[in-house]
Parts: sequence; C-alpha cells; structure tokens
Amino acid sequence: REQPLVLGIETSCDETGVGIVSGEELLVDAIASSVDEHARFGGVVPEVASRAHVEAMLPTLERACTTAGVTLRDLDAIAVTCGPGLAGTLMVGVAAAKALALALDKPLYGVNHLAAHVAVDIVEHGPLPEPVLALLVSGGHSSLLLVPDVTEDVRPLGATIDDAAGEAFDKVARVLGLPFPGGPHIDRAARDGQIVIDFPRGLTSGRDLQRHRFDFSFSGLKTAVARWVETERAAGRDIPVADVAASFQEAVVDVLTRKAIDAAREHGVTDLQIGGGVAANSRLRAMAQARAEAAGIRLRVPRPGLCTDNGAMVAALGAQMVTRGRTPSGLDLPADSSLPV
Ligand code: KG4
Ligand code: ZN
Repeated sequence: REQPLVLGIETSCDETGVGIVSGEELLVDAIASSVDEHARFGGVVPEVASRAHVEAMLPTLERACTTAGVTLRDLDAIAVTCGPGLAGTLMVGVAAAKALALALDKPLYGVNHLAAHVAVDIVEHGPLPEPVLALLVSGGHSSLLLVPDVTEDVRPLGATIDDAAGEAFDKVARVLGLPFPGGPHIDRAARDGQIVIDFPRGLTSGRDLQRHRFDFSFSGLKTAVARWVETERAAGRDIPVADVAASFQEAVVDVLTRKAIDAAREHGVTDLQIGGGVAANSRLRAMAQARAEAAGIRLRVPRPGLCTDNGAMVAALGAQMVTRGRTPSGLDLPADSSLPV
C-alpha cells in the first residue's frame, strides 16, 4: 500500500473524535459528543468535557477500527490535536495518542486544530490548492488564515478581538430563548424571517477597519441585539424571533464573507475554504458562494459533519505530514491550550 493509513484523535473541546484515513481517502469518522451534558449550563464546561473524553475514548476508538475494518497494527501513524483548545480535554487525547504510539511503536504527529480544520477538505474535495485562504468560524475561533502549506506554513491574517462567531450565535440564541448550541436554531428560525433590523457590522469602516483589516468583532453586535430585544419587551411588544434571527445572521455573514473575499483578493489567492461549525450555516454558504463567484474565487466548503470538530480532520492532516515527510513529534509532545498556528 502506498497511501499512509493514519488514525487521528480530536479532543480539543466537547467532541471525542477518532478518524482514520488512507492518504486522501476517508475510511471512518467516529464521534462521541458531550454537548447534551453542557446544554443546561449554556456552554461547554471543561471539567465535564474532560471526564466525558476519558469515558468515550476507548469505545470511540474501537468503533472507528471496527467500522473501517482496520486493526491498530495496520496503522502507519497516530495523529492528535495538541492545541489550541481546552487544556484538560486536550490532555486526554494527547495521552491516548502517546499510549497508542508507544504500544504500537508507530510515529506520533501532534497537529494544530486550526490547520486540521483546513486539511479536512482534502478528504472531501481532493488535494488542497495551496496557497488557500481559510475562514474558520466556530464556537471557539473566528480566523482568517493564509495557508501556503497546511503542514507547516499557516499564517493568521486576522481573528476575532472578542467573541467567536459561533459564540455570538449561541449568546443571541439564548437572548431569543432558543436552545444551546444556538447556531442551528438561529439558522432555522431565520428562514421564516425578514432582514428588517439594521444591526451593526463590527470593524468594517473608518479607523476600526484600518487597524483591524481582517479581524472580527461580534460582541457589539450581540449587545445590540440584546438591547433591541430588551427595548421591545419593555414596551410590551412580542419579539419577532424569526426577524431578529435573520437580521442578526445577516450582519454576521455579511462581515465574514466580505472580509474573507477581501483577504483572498489582497493576497492574490484564488481559492477560499470555509470550515468550523458555523460553516454549516445556510446563509453563510449561500452568500459566500455568490460573493466568491462574483470575485472569480473558487469556494470549498466541506459537508457540515466535517466542518464541526472531528477526528477525520486530524487524520487528514496527519496523512499530509507523513506524505510530505514532516518530522514526527516525540513522546514528550505537550498539550498546548494556546498553540499558535
Ligand atoms: O466547530 P464546532 O463544532 O466546535 C467548536 O466550537 O470548535 O462549532 C460549534 C459552533 C457553535 O457555536 C454552534 O452554534 C455553531 O458552531 N453552529 C452554527 C450552525 N451550526 C453550528 N452557527 C450558525 N449556523 C449553523 N447552522
Ligand atoms: Zn474547531
């Protein structure tokens, strides 16, 4: 066999992911999520998530191998997310990967979670056009990345200066009385709504734009929505949830796509990739497609299941590390919650 068989482990937040790829082909993407356990807290509780990873790790690993018809001995390498993410949850995955690498005597590759979000598109759409411009939007991050080489050269052009895009969706959902995580609920509610409220677009004009060309800010928007809702309630009016959802979503998506296309243009990049949980958003997909087309930029968005955190993305990047001859990590690989790209 020429293609490396690589197992990837992801535990940076609340999903226990184990994926197996053969080169650029996805064999299995097994996942266990503790999201329901966090719902009543309105956000991920690190301690609860860490414990859930410990409990889910072996069953998920076994399910992945069984489904793919792979035995651990067949593997060529073990890849694991070593950061960024929650310190305690990262340690569970890194410890499991080290144990496997040591017991099986296979090379270990610590990979960056953000780079893995970019690499996953290889198993969906084939080889990455590099350089590619990546917009990563999730509950934990909102970043624009210039990616000349996904295994070793990922350059951050900008990031959120306050809330992540998904975090804004989740917080606004809470204001509207929608369940956690709120993104999918806002997406659904917005389909029946009109874009009638003009909410602010952070860092898109004047000196803010000059100083934060490719950065994002969503906390002002979140506050504006909360104030609008408060005012309506105080006046005894019903909240038009669908209209608020549609108007809020439009503001987020407008800024994300505008800055992504501008960044691609400015850096002469012809391919734009969108990843992270928010990439599942239907309005984001539609607006990105329209604006990319108008700008002559090719758009790559993996299917929603590969946009959210998963093990396949780690395995996909691990396989690229093997193929491109990158040096494996030592068994002293640290989990680094603030690992830069
Ligand atoms: O990538 P992900 O599964 O986990 C991390 O945060 O790393 O992303 C989860 C985030 C949540 O904030 C969730 O509300 C958001 O992605 N999300 C969405 C949609 N589906 C998930 N946001 C907007 N529209 C959606 N359809
Ligand atoms: Zn993520």
